[in-house]
Amino acid sequence: MNRDRSDDVVLAVPRGRIAREVIPLLAGIGIEPEPAFRDPDSRRLAFRTSVDGLSLIRVRSFDAATFVAFGGADLGVVGYDVLLEFDYDDLYLPLDLGIGRCRLAVAEPAEVASSDDPRRWSHVRIATKYPATTRRHFAARGVQAECVKLNGALELAPQLGLCRRIVDLVDTGSTLRANGLVEVEKIADISSRLVVNRTAMKLRPRLLNALVDRFRKAIDGAPD
Ligand code: PRP
Repeated sequence: MNRDRSDDVVLAVPRGRIAREVIPLLAGIGIEPEPAFRDPDSRRLAFRTSVDGLSLIRVRSFDAATFVAFGGADLGVVGYDVLLEFDYDDLYLPLDLGIGRCRLAVAEPAEVASSDDPRRWSHVRIATKYPATTRRHFAARGVQAECVKLNGALELAPQLGLCRRIVDLVDTGSTLRANGLVEVEKIADISSRLVVNRTAMKLRPRLLNALVDRFRKAIDGAPD
């Protein structure tokens, strides 16, 4: 870790749908980000909070784990999907925050699914942001998964002939429906986790344990 350790404690928060759920969680434990954090037009990436010595950074969901793993942030809110895919050793995973709930699932066009049985697959070609998790999931039952890595708009891949199937996060299912796809197999239930950099935890145990405890009490519904 190269940061000056006299710096603020830095919490990495993913942008997008998880950020919307993180704001009330933070408010519940007395952490109010400065107003620019809620401003969708703000181009700022780092924000002060109402807690002295604690700042936030807003990053892409895949990058929240990377910032914490490399010590750029001390702790972060990270989707379990990202943890499954990258398997970082340097992260201590103290809490399931119970937000960002969805599932990682296999989907295919409705017309294919009507006569398809996933138990008979021996080789599949799949578009996904999660090639390692996908390959591991299928390898466990002897199916070879050839993955086409995309970073978004996966739902287009079947209609444009890249592959017949995708592995992606599914929440309400409306993105799949809007693109003529149906879910055929769940890989994992997903929620967001609080992760802490292991070295930071050794260097600043009192401060970081106190923060982790505040999150723990909030999700247990106990008084602070
Ligand atoms: C995720 C995911 C799907 C969509 C599923 O994308 O990749 O596209 O949400 O949600 P639904 O089942 O409620 O329709 P997200 O909106 O997080 O954006 P991303 O593509 O940038 O990851």
